[in-house]
Amino acid sequence: MVPDTPLRLDEIDLSDLAFWGRPWAEREAAFGVLRRERPLAFFEEPDMALASSLAPDRGPGYRAVTRHGDVAEISRHPEIYCSGQGAVSIFDLPPEMVEYFAGMISTDNPRHARLRRIVSAAFNPRRIASIEENIEEVADRVIDRASGFGECDFVPEIAAALPLEIICEMMGVPPSEYTTVFNCSNVILSGGDTEFIPEGTDPVLAGLTAGQQLTELMHELSAHRMEHPVDDLTTALITTNIDGEALTQAELASFFILLLTAGNETTRNAIAHALWAFTEHPDQRAVWAADPATVATTGVDEIVRWASPVIWMRRTVTEDTVLSGEELHPGDKVLLFYNSANRDESVFDDPYRFDVRRDPNPHFGFGAAGPHFCLGAHLARREIDVMLRKLLVRLPDIEATAEPDRLHSSFINGIKHLPCRFTPA
Ligand code: HEM
Repeated sequence: MVPDTPLRLDEIDLSDLAFWGRPWAEREAAFGVLRRERPLAFFEEPDMALASSLAPDRGPGYRAVTRHGDVAEISRHPEIYCSGQGAVSIFDLPPEMVEYFAGMISTDNPRHARLRRIVSAAFNPRRIASIEENIEEVADRVIDRASGFGECDFVPEIAAALPLEIICEMMGVPPSEYTTVFNCSNVILSGGDTEFIPEGTDPVLAGLTAGQQLTELMHELSAHRMEHPVDDLTTALITTNIDGEALTQAELASFFILLLTAGNETTRNAIAHALWAFTEHPDQRAVWAADPATVATTGVDEIVRWASPVIWMRRTVTEDTVLSGEELHPGDKVLLFYNSANRDESVFDDPYRFDVRRDPNPHFGFGAAGPHFCLGAHLARREIDVMLRKLLVRLPDIEATAEPDRLHSSFINGIKHLPCRFTPA
């Protein structure tokens, strides 16, 4: 069913943080209006940058790309829609932040291809296979810790713990630093939510400080691995050398931050959305529980479509071009709204239905086909699959007991807290 909207076209302002605090159904409906009536709507940039001493200028605004076909077209043409100009955030990052956060996600060829080559070599099939074994173990450990309680906050105790521990173990981050990684990635991807960035704090500065903390961690770790190489991703990243190419220290640090944030928050939110979706759609949960091995092959992607944990990525126009009949010019910013593409009624049959057997499901939760398609998609799918399979077996009656406490962000469709209960095991 298409949700109702109290908003008319001219009342929709995607740059107003209040819009992102509206109920999900209202947000969905607003995007339906944009897709139908103004698929490349222009918005002024949000005020967040103005709150910061580091990014004091309001930029030129952006187009919100809301149709599936347009998101696909832009992602396919990085030569016309680039990622390296001012980074993939709405406002152009100051250079010192680009160094920390931009990583390969905010670069174009030839630099992007070079970074992706080095990193992909470190993510080789043998390493991925050993990580996959580890997911089973870590998921069991996480559930063991919570299973006696009978109730808990699902997000920190279960949904966040699995991807956090997996990504940290992959990189060789010691358990004593897990909380640091958790806190820093919360700040970096907070979108200014006051639970993570207290009112009165400069949001850009807070992100920068968290990035610096992670950089220091990476420097310590990589210095240690240089002396004592082991079989982890950090060792592979500092020793991988393809045709004489290796990562520089700065590239290593920004990749580390990208992995710790990208690999953490997104998967956490997908798992939290899954529990909420199971609670709201018990019929779909029953379908999954009856045959997890088969249903997971379609269900995991339906969760990523349904949750759309990453709401948008930015590109910048490099030459005069035309998209869906509208002229675009060099320097124009375009935001690819993956959440909206994932509800496009011209592509998805009954897009507002949560259907764990949906097939085909050409969603853009991991981005659309193109050079920046999510590097961790395979890993994320495995984590979601394993965690849900184990939960349905080990805590079979687990359910959410209150509405999700949502992250106040336009960028990450986050759930900060989700109380749940289950029969203690
Ligand atoms: C459900 C979980 C996840 C979602 C929804 C997600 C989503 C995305 C999206 C939308 C992009 C940008 C695609 C584009 O611009 O075309 C992206 C890129 C990326 N993701 Fe993920 N991601 C997830 C999990 C992960 C994990 C677990 C990792 C790492 C272990 C990871 C690492 C990356 C990296 C490194 C990039 C940048 C790739 C590039 O620029 O070449 N992601 N992801």
